[in-house]
Amino acid sequence: MADMDGLKTGNTGAIDDSKDFHVGVPAGKTNFHVKGMDNVDWGMKDRLSRIFNPKSGNTLMLAFDHGYIMGATTGLERLDIIIPQLAEDIDVFMGTRGGIRTCVPPTFNKPVALRINAGSTVLSADVNKEVNGVDIEDAIRMNVSCLACQSFLGTDEERQSLKNLSDAINAGNRYGIPTMGVTAVGKNMVRSPKFFLLATRVLAELGAHIIKTYYCEGFEKIVAACPVPIVIAGGKVLPPDQALTMAYHAICDGANGVDMGRNIFQADDPKAMAKAVRMIVHEGATDKEAYEFYLDTKKK
Ligand code: R5P
Repeated sequence: MADMDGLKTGNTGAIDDSKDFHVGVPAGKTNFHVKGMDNVDWGMKDRLSRIFNPKSGNTLMLAFDHGYIMGATTGLERLDIIIPQLAEDIDVFMGTRGGIRTCVPPTFNKPVALRINAGSTVLSADVNKEVNGVDIEDAIRMNVSCLACQSFLGTDEERQSLKNLSDAINAGNRYGIPTMGVTAVGKNMVRSPKFFLLATRVLAELGAHIIKTYYCEGFEKIVAACPVPIVIAGGKVLPPDQALTMAYHAICDGANGVDMGRNIFQADDPKAMAKAVRMIVHEGATDKEAYEFYLDTKKK
């Protein structure tokens, strides 16, 4: 396989200019608004339509799954207080079964992207040693709209984490529940465009219905090469204008939304930030317009 040259995960580099991803050429669609999902069953389409707004095609997920690894992290000390405050401004709750069952009223009736991994914490030597901790029956019981499972490509845990993902996809497919594959970046893992190009495509080809990954240079090529929708992770906290610019560029480059945590719930005004991100994701606002809105709206 000649094309293997330079594709090892440790390779930090830009995406090879000689490749043609046909950026700007839309993916083939028939009657469904979610990329690559024309041929899935009605139940899965129903769940995907709860996640991806049929009008904008995009989604604003609120990631608050951090506690399963980090415990009571800053901004999420009390899920029962912060999550209800943000509920009306976001589209999807992305959290753990423990966090959601205990702290998110089911009466909100919002779709859930359920984090199913377990097995390590910040106290572990390797945070990437994970298994799937949630049975599909429990996910069904919670009426989730998708499973979220991460993979650690290029690490000693690659095989196990890809098995975790494949198990989730197999179980979800049996019941019409999509799986979001998350391209994890551990402490020592490279975050190069080449890595994300490889990782997003690998997870999609394994059958993930949605990919969560990080925004990077050459993102439009990564989106073009990925046959399913991509949502970007928020990552570490940035100044709000920079976080909004990242979200704006991701949407302009073809992402179908964001799954943002700390940049929302650790903002000076999380609710204003969620609304500002929403403007970009659903209303075609620029980063500048969203930032002006944030400054005008945030509590003085
Ligand atoms: C990523 O693998 C997990 O979903 C994280 O817990 C979550 O994405 C973190 O969100 P953020 O980086 O936006 O705080």
